Amino acid sequence: MSVTTVPAFLEARRSIRAFNDAPVAPEALDAIVTAACIAPAPHHSRPWRFVTVDSATGKQALADGMGAQWRADLAGDGVPATRIDELVDASHAKLTGAPALVLGCLTWDGLDRYPDEARRRAEWGMALLSLGAAVENLMLAAADAGLASCWVAAPIFCPEAARDALDLPDEWLPHACVLVGHPDPAYVGRVRPPIPLGDLRLRR
Ligand SMILES: Cc1cc2nc3c(=O)[nH]c(=O)nc-3n(C[C@H](O)[C@H](O)[C@H](O)COP(=O)(O)O)c2cc1C
Repeated sequence: MSVTTVPAFLEARRSIRAFNDAPVAPEALDAIVTAACIAPAPHHSRPWRFVTVDSATGKQALADGMGAQWRADLAGDGVPATRIDELVDASHAKLTGAPALVLGCLTWDGLDRYPDEARRRAEWGMALLSLGAAVENLMLAAADAGLASCWVAAPIFCPEAARDALDLPDEWLPHACVLVGHPDPAYVGRVRPPIPLGDLRLRR
């Protein structure tokens, strides 16, 4: 293998934002969450929790809860009301239109506790990196199973609102949301731009 060749299973994962109406089997959701849970994590912890949301009421509650927070944030930024409606409605439709959502949460369970803020932040940062690895595992496993997925950023801006919308335990803080479904065959994604390795990596 040449050093610049990306393995096909990594190339195969793309962000796909359009789905057909077929539901995702609960077993398939469990399988991709299991793949997420073999991600590397700091000092043998498992600081993440996952919530599979495939009921209409669950998706609606999550979209409503996060939407209310985003609406308030945008109003605080001085964004015009019509634009707020457009943005929040589009986000709501994206979340409720996906056959299933997987919410990735962080907890302090298994993490080291420090008395000072700098190390607390670093420890939480490690957990967040690990959640990123877990979400990548989840999306790779989805692609391998023929499922479409797309990470959406929303909960990292409003973890408490997302937690409360789904009545999750207090210590579960949602930080990632992945749309999951069977791909709409008509969906055409963006062409993946080439990797300008010379700009992205230094060698010492
Ligand atoms: C942390 C994170 C947040 C993202 N948030 C969104 C989002 O809110 N909406 C969306 O459509 N895509 C979102 N994406 C997907 C990116 O747009 C996508 O990964 C990027 O364009 C590269 O395309 P690819 O995944 O098909 O390679 C997010 C990706 C990451 C890693």
